Amino acid sequence: MAVFNGMKYELCIIGGAGHVGLPLGVVFANSGVKTVLLDINKEALKEIQEGKFPFKERGGNEALRAALEKENLFTSSDPQTISEARFVLVVLGTPIDEYLSPEFGGITRALDKYESHFQEGQIVILRSTVYPGTTEKIQNYFSEKEKKVRVAFCPERITQGYAIEETKVLPQIVSAFDEETLKEVSDLFRKITQEKIIPVKPVEAELAKLFTNSWRYIRFAVANQFFMIAQDHGLNYQNIERAMKEDYARNKDLPSPGFAAGPCLLKDTMQLAAFTNNNFWLGHAAMLINEGLVNHVIKELKREYLDSLKDKTVGILGMAFKANSDDHRDSLSYKLRKIAHVECRTVLCTDPYVKNEQFVSVEDIFKKADIIILAAPHAEYADINPKNYPNIRFIDIWNFWSR
Ligand SMILES: NC(=O)c1ccc[n+]([C@@H]2O[C@H](COP(=O)([O-])OP(=O)(O)OC[C@H]3O[C@@H](n4cnc5c(N)ncnc54)[C@H](O)[C@@H]3O)[C@@H](O)[C@H]2O)c1
Repeated sequence: MAVFNGMKYELCIIGGAGHVGLPLGVVFANSGVKTVLLDINKEALKEIQEGKFPFKERGGNEALRAALEKENLFTSSDPQTISEARFVLVVLGTPIDEYLSPEFGGITRALDKYESHFQEGQIVILRSTVYPGTTEKIQNYFSEKEKKVRVAFCPERITQGYAIEETKVLPQIVSAFDEETLKEVSDLFRKITQEKIIPVKPVEAELAKLFTNSWRYIRFAVANQFFMIAQDHGLNYQNIERAMKEDYARNKDLPSPGFAAGPCLLKDTMQLAAFTNNNFWLGHAAMLINEGLVNHVIKELKREYLDSLKDKTVGILGMAFKANSDDHRDSLSYKLRKIAHVECRTVLCTDPYVKNEQFVSVEDIFKKADIIILAAPHAEYADINPKNYPNIRFIDIWNFWSR
C-alpha cells in the first residue's frame, strides 16, 4: 500500500459527505489522491459506499463509482482517521445566526472534538467559506496547543450541483503562512485542475471568496430591483431587458430576475457585512432586494386580485433554492409559501426533487390552482405551456416559459 509521509491516506476530508466535501473528494480520488471522507452522517456515508450520491450532482454517481473501483476513495465516521492522512481538509458548514452574525461554533466545536487526532507535520486545509481572520485564528489554536500543524486556506468556488465538472476547469486560490506549506497545497490542488493555481495571503483568500459571493448576490439584486421598478410602473421588464441586452455586449452579463437564495450567497454577504462593522450598504441593500422579491410577487397579486386573492388557491412550482437542484436549504420558496398562506386561501407546493409529505404532485397543482408561481425553474417544467391553461394565472419572474 502506498504511504504518504508515512500516512495511510493522502487526504482526509472532514465534512466529506457534504455538498462540497463529497464531489471534491471524488475528484481528488479520481486524480490519484488516496482520499478518506470523514463525516458524522452515517446514512450518507452508507449511500456513498454503495456508489450513490446522497444529493443531486451532475455526473456524480459515475465519478463516485469510478473512484470506489480504483480503491482510492474511502469513508469513515471514526475521527481516528484524521491521524492517518497527510492533508486534512475541513469543509464544515459556516452559517450565520438568526441575527445575521457569523456563527463560528461548527468549526471550533469540531476542532475541539478532534484535536487529539491531529498529528505533527500535518497540513490542515480550510475549504469552508470563513469570516476573515479565521485561518490565522485556527493556526494560533494549534500553536497554543503546541501542535506542529500548519494551516492553509483554499476556498471552494464551484456552483453547487456541478462540482465534478467545474473543479477541473476552475483556477484554485491557495494560501498559507509559509512558502513550504504554500508549495505543498499548490502541488495538491494542481492534481485536480487543468487551470492555474493562484497563491495569495490567507486573509486575501478569505476576502476573495466573500467578495466573490457578495458580488454574485449584488448582481442578482440589480436585476431584481430593475424588474421590480418596471413592474411597479406597470411595464414589461422582459421587453426592457431584451432591449438592453440584444447585440449589446456591455449588458450581456446582467442576470435575469429570479429568487436569489440558497445556503451561501446571503450568508456570505452577511459575513462580509459583519466584517465591515455592518456598514456594507450594498450587501444589505442586496439582501433587502433579493428577499423582498418574494413580497413583491405577492404585492403584485394583491394589486391584481384585490380582495379576491384570499379566495384563491396558489400553487408553487419548485421548492429547491435553485433550478435542477434538490437542495431546499434557505430556499425563498418557503418564504413565498408563508406569505401566500397569509394572503390566499390555500397554498400547494410541488417539487420533483425535494421530498416532503406535505407536497403534492404537479398534476394536482394544475387541477386545483387558480394561480401558479414558478419559484424554481426546473427543467421538468420546461414543457409546460401556460397558454394551454387559460383559467390559471401564471407568474414567471424568470421569463422561463417565454425564453
Ligand atoms: N454548497 C456550496 O455550493 C458551497 C460552495 C462553496 C463553498 N461552500 C462552503 O462550504 C462549506 C460547507 O458547505 P456544504 O454546502 O458542503 O455543507 P453541507 O452541510 O452540505 O456539508 C457539511 C458536512 O459536514 C458534516 N459534518 C458536520 N459536523 C461534522 C463533524 N463534526 N465531523 C464530521 N463531519 C461533520 C455534515 O454531516 C455534512 O455532511 C460552507 O462553509 C459553505 O459556505 C459551499
